[in-house]
Amino acid sequence: MQNALKRLLNQRVSTIGLEIGTSMIKVVELRPGSPPALVRSVSAPTPPGSVKEGALVEPQLVAQEIRNLLTAQHIKARFVVTALPNQSAITRNISVPRVDRKDLDGAVRWEAERYIPYPIDEVVLDYDLLDEPAGLPQDSPIEIVIAAAPQEVIARQVEAIRLAGLEPLIIDLKPFAALRAVYAAQKSPEPHLTSESDVAVILEIGASGTSITLVRGQRVLMTRNITVSADDFTVAIQRGYNLSFAEAEEVKTRYATVSSQTESEEDLLNFDADRERYATARLYELTRPVLSDLINEVRRSLEFYRVQSGEVILSRMLITGGGAKLRGLPGALSDALGMKVELAHPLSALSVDPNHPDTELANQLGEALAVPIGLALRGMDRLD
Ligand SMILES: Nc1ncnc2c1ncn2[C@@H]1O[C@H](COP(=O)(O)OP(=O)(O)OP(=O)(O)O)[C@@H](O)[C@H]1O
Ligand SMILES: [Mg+2]
Repeated sequence: MQNALKRLLNQRVSTIGLEIGTSMIKVVELRPGSPPALVRSVSAPTPPGSVKEGALVEPQLVAQEIRNLLTAQHIKARFVVTALPNQSAITRNISVPRVDRKDLDGAVRWEAERYIPYPIDEVVLDYDLLDEPAGLPQDSPIEIVIAAAPQEVIARQVEAIRLAGLEPLIIDLKPFAALRAVYAAQKSPEPHLTSESDVAVILEIGASGTSITLVRGQRVLMTRNITVSADDFTVAIQRGYNLSFAEAEEVKTRYATVSSQTESEEDLLNFDADRERYATARLYELTRPVLSDLINEVRRSLEFYRVQSGEVILSRMLITGGGAKLRGLPGALSDALGMKVELAHPLSALSVDPNHPDTELANQLGEALAVPIGLALRGMDRLD
């Protein structure tokens, strides 16, 4: 009875997933169901300079932009799940000695301190158990995942959201949100990316922040930040052609490819002056060093995991974030890393009405919606 009542009350509450990205503000509203249904999906370019390297430097400006977006799109939902920028969030799997539940907070804080590059009194620290201690041998340590961020970063995020007239419910981390969307997009009733012995890799490539996450079944093994992101490809093109950043973005999304193939048939048919100026081969040459850096950092992360954990079978990589849409990227990563690499298709986690006015844009954004979809899905969990 109580549950039924709770559900009834909760149903009035609709939650939105909001990502304040360096390049784009993205809002996703979902309705519970299996799968959850896409109610709204809207976005706006982040005002230039207001978010730098993921950090909110102009909360007022960002808040105003969010408010404008919600008003223009008649979005009434007020409860928000959002995420911190990767650059100021720390997450790590750690083990703590077996202690009573009541002493766990203290033990985690003590252990976590050495992994957190900020004074422990100035961070918000959260954690989750990776295993149920009851199922483990008496004296084995407890594996937990910690998440921490400076209080000041969180306060700023909350401030921007409140200034936009919204109420923050949960502040998540982007790699976890992306992972949730990727799992949900697997469609099976028990979403597993791999068998219990293999490891899958999720690479979330944002404009300024990239994360790599290793999972086995439903268990997160490792999450790390990677310092190469989609903006770096833009900057390489900007420098090579002496363009503004905005012009270089346009050139990147229209013409760039990071696979070594020469002109495709489609390119040859659509031949024009710009196409000649921004030739595939030249763009490939300009972006190749960035691609190499990205690949090297991914390799280093995988190596780091191998050193800690011994030989692992990496079965597949799923890529998300707007940066995953760079032409030729799955193939280039697959060739370099020797594993299957696919786009994650986060929208397939949802039931989407093809005639809805937001659908076309949602399809265009595609991979870039992984984080806001994952955030909105977290809001759904509350309704269980
Ligand atoms: N079709 C495309 N081809 C190549 N790059 C693309 C394409 N579409 C989007 N991008 C790139 O994706 C990036 C934006 O991705 P996304 O929206 O995930 O970033 P963000 O969430 O704003 O940034 P962050 O999370 O790092 O703060 C931009 O660098 C953009 O150029
Ligand atoms: Mg992002």
